[in-house]
Amino acid sequence: MAAGAAVNSSIIESLKGIETIKAYSGEEKVYNRIDHEFVKLMKKSFRTVTLDNIQQGIKHLIQLISSALILWLGSYFVMDNRISLGQLITYNALLVFFTDPLQNIINLQVKMQTAQVANNRLNEIFAIDSEKSNQSFEYMLSEQLFQQDITVKNVSFSYSMKAPTLNEISCTIPSHSITAIVGVSGSGKSTLAKLFVRFYEASEGSIHYGNINHLDIPFQILRDRVTYLPQESFFFSGTIIENLIFGLDSPPSFEQIIEVCEIVQLNEFINQQPLRYETLLEEGGNNLSGGQRQRLAIARALLKNPDILILDEATSGLDTLLEHAIMNYLLNLKEKTIIFIAHHLPIAKACDQILVLHEGHLVEKGTHDELRFADGIYQKLWEI
Ligand SMILES: Nc1ncnc2c1ncn2[C@@H]1O[C@H](COP(=O)(O)OP(=O)(O)OP(=O)(O)O)[C@@H](O)[C@H]1O
Ligand SMILES: [Mg+2]
Repeated sequence: MAAGAAVNSSIIESLKGIETIKAYSGEEKVYNRIDHEFVKLMKKSFRTVTLDNIQQGIKHLIQLISSALILWLGSYFVMDNRISLGQLITYNALLVFFTDPLQNIINLQVKMQTAQVANNRLNEIFAIDSEKSNQSFEYMLSEQLFQQDITVKNVSFSYSMKAPTLNEISCTIPSHSITAIVGVSGSGKSTLAKLFVRFYEASEGSIHYGNINHLDIPFQILRDRVTYLPQESFFFSGTIIENLIFGLDSPPSFEQIIEVCEIVQLNEFINQQPLRYETLLEEGGNNLSGGQRQRLAIARALLKNPDILILDEATSGLDTLLEHAIMNYLLNLKEKTIIFIAHHLPIAKACDQILVLHEGHLVEKGTHDELRFADGIYQKLWEI
């Protein structure tokens, strides 16, 4: 079972990564790896079948020997007048009812092994903590909760047993402000962003929306009002419009959809398609360019109309003009709190506050003018 799962996951992984495999001419390596896994599976299956056959052989042999023995001994007793012929025949016929269940018990052994593996895998699933939601606080949440400041207090976080990815982060993100989180790759920017929507939970410290700890806010409400937009969003196989209104409680009007598509400058492209908004997207949006996917994801987030929008390098695939236009639109949204995670520093320049992360520590915070020549990481990032 485990070997079968390994072969399956290798095949799925290689199909998903087919472009990278082709680009790096890695077909042979991947083929060999799957071949190796397949041979392992075949060897294991062969061993299981051989074991099963040996068991069956032994079982039949015992069956034959015992019937011969019973008939031989029985005939001897009949000839000796110790039992009647009828008794021997009845005994022999009824013996099957005893030996059959016995055989079934022997056959159970292979099945037990398979069940044992399945049981281990089930236990692995039970060992995963499910997302725990605290429903009891629901009644305390006001409509205005996400229109208030976000306070991060001494937040530390580590992925499993690794060294902490975030260390004692403390900051305030004022309501309706625009904050940029910058830092070199691997400094912990995405990790911090994911803590805001509770994809992970901080090992120490807390995050408060207004005066409510975010752990006390039910997931559905939290993620309804705080939207995290990753660099690579996922699209389902379905039409453009189905993907745009995905997860919305009340579907927006067609005018609203056109409006957001105009903001992200996707209307022209959609109108060029024969089926326009009914155009089918392939799994993962593979029939769109990277930038088109990002624009569609931004449009989807805007339609959701959250109070707090976190964009994790969500405009990195756009050309400068388009990025500038979308940025300008977002900067002018006065009733939203926006957090940009940005590699592109001009985005940070236009923000009200910049948080600079370095190796999981919050090393600088301030405006562009305060940090530009502060002789810190931010200055270095500008001067690279
Ligand atoms: N799911 C994960 N499991 C284990 N470690 C992870 C996971 N995601 C990230 N990390 C580790 O946490 C650290 C911070 O990663 P993070 O993605 O937050 O960085 P980042 O600042 O967003 O980088 P980038 O600019 O490259 O996106 C990295 O060292 C990374 O290896
Ligand atoms: Mg990141």
